[in-house]
Amino acid sequence: MGEGLPYTISLILLVTLLCFALAYYIASPIHSIQSTARRVAQGDLKARVPPSVSGRFDELAALAKDFDSMVGRLDLLIQTQRNLLNSVSHELRSPLARINLSLEILKKHSVPESDDTFQRLDRDVARIDLLMGQLLTLSRLESGLSSASREEVNFAQLLEETAADSNFEAQAGDKSVTLYMKNSVILGNADSHALRSACENVIRNAVRFTQPGTDVEVVLEINRTTSEPLAFLSVRDHGPGVPEDSLQAIFQPFFRINEDAEGPRGNGLGLAIAAEAIRLHGGKIWAENLVSTGLEIKIQLPKAYEAAVHAYELSKPERSSTL
Ligand SMILES: Nc1ncnc2c1ncn2[C@@H]1O[C@H](COP(=O)(O)OP(=O)(O)OP(=O)(O)O)[C@@H](O)[C@H]1O
Ligand SMILES: [Mg+2]
Repeated sequence: MGEGLPYTISLILLVTLLCFALAYYIASPIHSIQSTARRVAQGDLKARVPPSVSGRFDELAALAKDFDSMVGRLDLLIQTQRNLLNSVSHELRSPLARINLSLEILKKHSVPESDDTFQRLDRDVARIDLLMGQLLTLSRLESGLSSASREEVNFAQLLEETAADSNFEAQAGDKSVTLYMKNSVILGNADSHALRSACENVIRNAVRFTQPGTDVEVVLEINRTTSEPLAFLSVRDHGPGVPEDSLQAIFQPFFRINEDAEGPRGNGLGLAIAAEAIRLHGGKIWAENLVSTGLEIKIQLPKAYEAAVHAYELSKPERSSTL
């Protein structure tokens, strides 16, 4: 019995070790497949399971290969759809320009009774033109084409200009835009066109939805609590907000809430363009309903640093606004 005890202990140890090894052998490829699935879920359709897993000779390797081929097929389908959208928008641009020209010529020889018809035609052509432009911008951003012109961007200045323009446009509806920032934020390796487009779309939405007599608050800060400083932008309005279950969907192309509602209608592409532009910069964009009323769009961008420390408060409206 005395001799049997060490033997039993070593046997138990050996079995435990074997169990650990076996659990690791099975769990580690599952983790790899799971983390690849998460990357795909976040929109990275180029993600593939590491070869150390797909190169094995067991069922998990077969699962990894099937997973990879499914993602590959999805990637191809989405690519084809994007190319189609891009080509159609490109191809429609020239005929649209010709229609515009013909319209101008026809107008010169028209009778006054046709004025209404021409006005409607003008509006329709302008809408199609805007839609084509937005589709082209979106497909350029999705294909990462605009990243060719990366440079250091003065994000604070870009925002000053955008907020001032929007504030000017907002005055007509008795609304205003106020920009609050403590630091002048610079973004490294950024695309100013894409960022401008993102900010314009978000602020324009806020101006459109905020109640007359209210202010859209735009706040820019640097968050230094993370290992790498992040630029943090928040745009808040005093509008109706968005149903909780649509807070993510509003960033999908052509998604609009209450499509049948009266009033000015957009194409549903603005936030998709903004999301693509922010994704190109490795940033994050999301929406939250405010506790009182209104929507807040939050944007986080990496590679941010401060150029000079001075307080800004721009395009301040006459009435006082609280943050
Ligand atoms: N600040 C906001 N408050 C309430 N709803 C909003 C706000 N911003 C966006 N939405 C909702 O999200 C939808 C999608 O917004 P998005 O900017 O993508 O499209 P759009 O403004 O309708 O059209 P476009 O920007 O192409 O002219 C809007 O139609 C609207 O229903
Ligand atoms: Mg919009």
